[in-house]
Amino acid sequence: MEKTIDESIQGQALTLEGKKENTRKLFIESYGCQMNFSDSEIVASILAKEGFNTTQNLEDADLVLVNTCSIREKAEQTVRKRLEKYNAVKRNNPKMKVGVLGCMAERLKNKFLEEEKIVDLVVGPDAYKDLPNLIEEVDAGRNAVNVILSKEETYADISPVRLQSNGVSAFVSITRGCDNMCTFCVVPFTRGRERSRDPQSILEEIDDLVNNNFKEITLLGQNVDSYLWYGGGLKKDFEKASDFQKATATNFAKLLDMAATKYPKTRLRFTTSNPQDMTLDVIEVMAKHPNICKYIHLPIQSGSDRILKEMNRLHTRQEYFDLIDNIKRLIPDCAISQDIITGFPTETEADHQDTLSLMEYVKYDYGFMFAYSERPGTLAERKMEDDVPEATKKRRLAEIIELQRQHSAVRHQAYIGQTVEVLIEKASKKSDAHWSGRTTQNTVAVFPKENYNIGDFVMVRIDECTSATLLGEAVGYSKNN
Ligand code: 5AD
Ligand code: SF4
Repeated sequence: MEKTIDESIQGQALTLEGKKENTRKLFIESYGCQMNFSDSEIVASILAKEGFNTTQNLEDADLVLVNTCSIREKAEQTVRKRLEKYNAVKRNNPKMKVGVLGCMAERLKNKFLEEEKIVDLVVGPDAYKDLPNLIEEVDAGRNAVNVILSKEETYADISPVRLQSNGVSAFVSITRGCDNMCTFCVVPFTRGRERSRDPQSILEEIDDLVNNNFKEITLLGQNVDSYLWYGGGLKKDFEKASDFQKATATNFAKLLDMAATKYPKTRLRFTTSNPQDMTLDVIEVMAKHPNICKYIHLPIQSGSDRILKEMNRLHTRQEYFDLIDNIKRLIPDCAISQDIITGFPTETEADHQDTLSLMEYVKYDYGFMFAYSERPGTLAERKMEDDVPEATKKRRLAEIIELQRQHSAVRHQAYIGQTVEVLIEKASKKSDAHWSGRTTQNTVAVFPKENYNIGDFVMVRIDECTSATLLGEAVGYSKNN
């Protein structure tokens, strides 16, 4: 029988029982990007050694941790709502302690303790190793805060506890922070400067996952293409590295090539890519290895050169098209998705039309589209007026979403009649008689279960589609099994 993550955490806590006799219950939940979900697995691992078992039940928790996102105001409001819920639960469980992790913790720091009485603990994304000390403080009845950002921390030495895992796909983080300073974005302030993780420790983590039967690994970073290992330290200090360090440095193309060569039966994905940092050699490595998934998430934010400049995106519309042309030339079946922001300060109707025409050129498979949300401390907030009326932002957003829906439908219809490889991840939400998995292009495919199992690579003939899902029938195992 498959071991659930909960059992494996309990297993770890039990083996460490001699060390920490008081086994306590940790409820941890994450909001925002995949990096937060991955970080929560690191936190669970650090706390498992302190005798904390995870629980899925908020009411049972001795310690509640919420890993937070600051990217848009709405994300922060969602977390505030959750704090209200914890408050209600605490009435029946007064000993429960509450900690805030992640980007909101970093942004608000001590202010969190003043604004939200329920919060006992505030810990920024680079300070998780300090959690055992901070929890001791909280146990002694004092509030605790650590929001120090680090030049080196990559948690390379922590082996994450896989939370709520399907046992098939996992995240491995390879870089932390972001140096790009897009003017709308709070991430450089909450996650600090860019630094990369030792490739050896990345390969060891992949090795461990492969040995535990994981079939698909997503390499994570705010900007994976900027990955650069030269012995540790910030990316911006690379110039100061020795000649030897420079000559032996590992960039993202090299890392990807090493991982794909070493694990030819494991699917590899990566996210997020940044147009200005994605080089031709990354696309060539993708084209060379069948196990690197043919999917690139390539945010554009706006199709207008003027707005791209105001956003401090360090590329033009034409340079983006050149990159797209190269991707389509070298990997004709590659799926591409976007992030777009509507209503950035000063955006005119003509700028908006540029975004729509850019979408027509690329014909993205998917998209993640947002109305601009002013974030405190960013350059846009300090220097520009949030001058596009809310109704205009919403209307432009609706137009972009509608165009994306049409493009997704066209892209998905193209699969009808084809037989594609699908990695089975779970039972379909709609029907227990069907499996759900993803193609190399990251499109969800659903088909009758027959005798196949979770973790199998199956060839599926696609018969129908909705705008988000392919529907079909399995015709046999893939040779990748
Ligand atoms: N307002 C709206 N969307 C934003 N994003 C980042 N910052 C903001 C903001 N202030 C979007 C971008 C980014 C994605 C992760 O979130 O599109 O690529
Ligand atoms: Fe934010 Fe830009 Fe960095 Fe992405 S690349 S995390 S949008 S600053």
